[in-house]
Amino acid sequence: MRVSPRLHGPYPFGRRDLEAERLDAGVRHTLAHFRQWRDENPRAIAAHAEQYTAQLDVIAAEGPAAFDRRPWTPRRRRERRRRLAREVVHFGVLNMGEVPDDAMVDAMLDGAAHTLPLLGRVRGDGTAAAVPAAIAALRGSVPLLGEVPGADWLTERLTALYAGLPDAVVRAGSMGKVVRAMAGVLVIGAYGVPHATEAARRDHLAGILPGAYAFGAAYAIVDDTLHDLAATHLGRDARERHHRLIAAALATGEPTAEADVPDHPLAEELHLLHRLLLADHPFDRRRHLWHAAEAMYQAQHRDASRTAGAADDLYPDVFVKAGMSRVVANVLAGRRLGDAFYERCVNTILVSQLRDDLIDRREDRRAGRITPFTAGGDLNPVHDLFAYNAYVAEEVYGGDPVVADALTYYGAARLAAHLSVHGAGDLLRDHPATGEITRFLRAAAGLPPRTVRRLGTVDQVLRDRAAGALTHRPAAAVDCRTFVADRLSYIDDVLRRLCTPDEATGDLEEIVRYALGGTGKRLRPAMCLMLADSLGIDPVAVEPVVAAGELFHTASLLFDDLPAHDDATVRRGRPAAHLVFDESAVQLAGLSMISSAFGLLAGLSDRFPAERVTEVVGYAGGVLGPQRLCRGQHLDLRMSRPGAPAATREEILHMYDLKTSTAIEAALVPLMMVLGRPRTEIGLLERYAHHAGIVFQIRDDVLDATSSTEVLGKNSGNDTGKVNLVRSYGPAAAEELMRSNLAAAVECCRGLPFDTRLLECTVRHFALRRR
Ligand code: IPE
Ligand code: IPE
Ligand code: MG
Ligand code: MG
Repeated sequence: MRVSPRLHGPYPFGRRDLEAERLDAGVRHTLAHFRQWRDENPRAIAAHAEQYTAQLDVIAAEGPAAFDRRPWTPRRRRERRRRLAREVVHFGVLNMGEVPDDAMVDAMLDGAAHTLPLLGRVRGDGTAAAVPAAIAALRGSVPLLGEVPGADWLTERLTALYAGLPDAVVRAGSMGKVVRAMAGVLVIGAYGVPHATEAARRDHLAGILPGAYAFGAAYAIVDDTLHDLAATHLGRDARERHHRLIAAALATGEPTAEADVPDHPLAEELHLLHRLLLADHPFDRRRHLWHAAEAMYQAQHRDASRTAGAADDLYPDVFVKAGMSRVVANVLAGRRLGDAFYERCVNTILVSQLRDDLIDRREDRRAGRITPFTAGGDLNPVHDLFAYNAYVAEEVYGGDPVVADALTYYGAARLAAHLSVHGAGDLLRDHPATGEITRFLRAAAGLPPRTVRRLGTVDQVLRDRAAGALTHRPAAAVDCRTFVADRLSYIDDVLRRLCTPDEATGDLEEIVRYALGGTGKRLRPAMCLMLADSLGIDPVAVEPVVAAGELFHTASLLFDDLPAHDDATVRRGRPAAHLVFDESAVQLAGLSMISSAFGLLAGLSDRFPAERVTEVVGYAGGVLGPQRLCRGQHLDLRMSRPGAPAATREEILHMYDLKTSTAIEAALVPLMMVLGRPRTEIGLLERYAHHAGIVFQIRDDVLDATSSTEVLGKNSGNDTGKVNLVRSYGPAAAEELMRSNLAAAVECCRGLPFDTRLLECTVRHFALRRR
């Protein structure tokens, strides 16, 4: 497309313009037209800013009375109706590319009549009732949903999502955003069939429910976790791998192969959603949806990866990301969309994005996110915010006063809610503003916060209520993989502090650091932390136990890979230590790790009674000695020697217990001992470790035969020539043994007098893990 020097309007987007290249050209056209319009229409922008200021007077006059508990006089009813009608218009303009007509406003207000009282009653305390409480909040917004079949399905999905999100994401209220985004799609969906019978509307909502959930969940998974939290929760490599898979899945319409889905509950959830959406929206027949989803995802990814923002490529991505998200929401909501929709919807949305970016600017800056407000450079996002609002009212909606009223009222309310608390000083300092804009910012910042606090729209109230129900998640309700991922950087930090001090620079320390690094899954230290959590123990107090367990385990891997043992070449995603360092030095490093771990355990006497610490040290000696771990390794090698008699199932299981269960036991029992827990509980945990280790090892055998070195980070197929259950007795027998040991491990958990959900989840994960 050739962009002519003089443009005559925003780009007329249609359904066919969502394909990446055309979309980009269209976006650049509208942005160029906007700049031209902005520079030629200072008076329209000034008038718009003045309307913002005038709305502050309206807001101040209404005050918090709009929601208070005084009796409903006819006058108050009329006022409320006017307010809500304006909100419906605002919702329509921002979310549906449309100004709802009177009949539609009435229909929506019918629904809203049930909404507000219900929202007031939603409570949640983070317990099992939390998800139903959030669903109750959702029903408050979309009353029909109460009757929709599929609510059980929704409970199940939201529960899985809630368990799988990182702690920081849950605490930041992400679940509230999920519920709000879902509600948005459902409301758009209900709007799409205004004149249908109630039963038909119900059917319609039931049909779009999966899409609505997918839309909300994708925000929390992609935006809040994969993009914002990858560095601390997933690690860079994992993020890159996730990204490649998602990009390929969106571009081809082929779901990721099961075996390649990353081993994280959110990756599984996303995979499930992708398949679900493909079933309802086949790739070849719904190209516009998948184009929009892909463009949105890619823009978001660029946005999240950006480290320095040039004005020229920042706005287009913000535009695409936000614009496509509205397109996707409307398609998923099952609306029939004409070209007029695309043109208005895509060209409007920068309005709300700039507003949100203004409000979030400090948090974004702290998190290192680049937005128009944190990028610096030539941008003047404050001016552009008002200018783009005016542009939408004039150029996208042809000067419709109803649109200008809704945009300025809610724009003013939202900005005032923020500015009245945080002030406008930095904005006025950082971005030159016209007199009219300065007047608005000052006036908004000068309002008493009380006046604007309760002016939130229904969707904001919904978001806050749902977040209230779903923000304080007890650790025991977390998916064990999320629990581990959330603690990866803490565990690394413990290992760095306790095992590889900075001043250490000798060769052996270098090997220790190498061995402890890489893509270790950290399952044993994480299990120790799970137990500490269940027992209400501060992890800091037991860091030596956490570190010692990982040292014992990692040292055993160093020896295990040596040429005289398993002769492996890859470990934790990189060359085995003896291929990088001198073999004799590797042996000594392994030995030194075991010795240091004993030293760490002895140091527990700083905080715990000496006799318990002595008991722990003696216990560790026994576990690692010739009766247990070393014996297991020895038996493994002996059974696999050429000419050795065929091992029975029992012999193999015994060997697994000795070589694998022991390291799991050693991650749990020292903590119990040092805390002086009763012998019966320790016995149950020993049995748990016994069964869990067998489950872990059988799954290891399956993966050795079926997975790849790349996914596992260690040699697959390396057990060829070695005795293992799968090879000797077949996958079916191995599966059966895995199942019975899993059941037995869960049984042990049930016998313990504290919350063992995490340990239960962990052994279930052992049976299914993909790496
Ligand atoms: C490997 O353990 C040793 C076995 C008992 C099979 P992991 O698979 O937990 O190894 P890392 O710690 O993640 O490297
Ligand atoms: C390793 O067992 C067990 C110990 C190191 C104690 P494997 O030899 O079966 O494990 P991988 O496959 O090398 O991790
Ligand atoms: Mg081995
Ligand atoms: Mg091995």
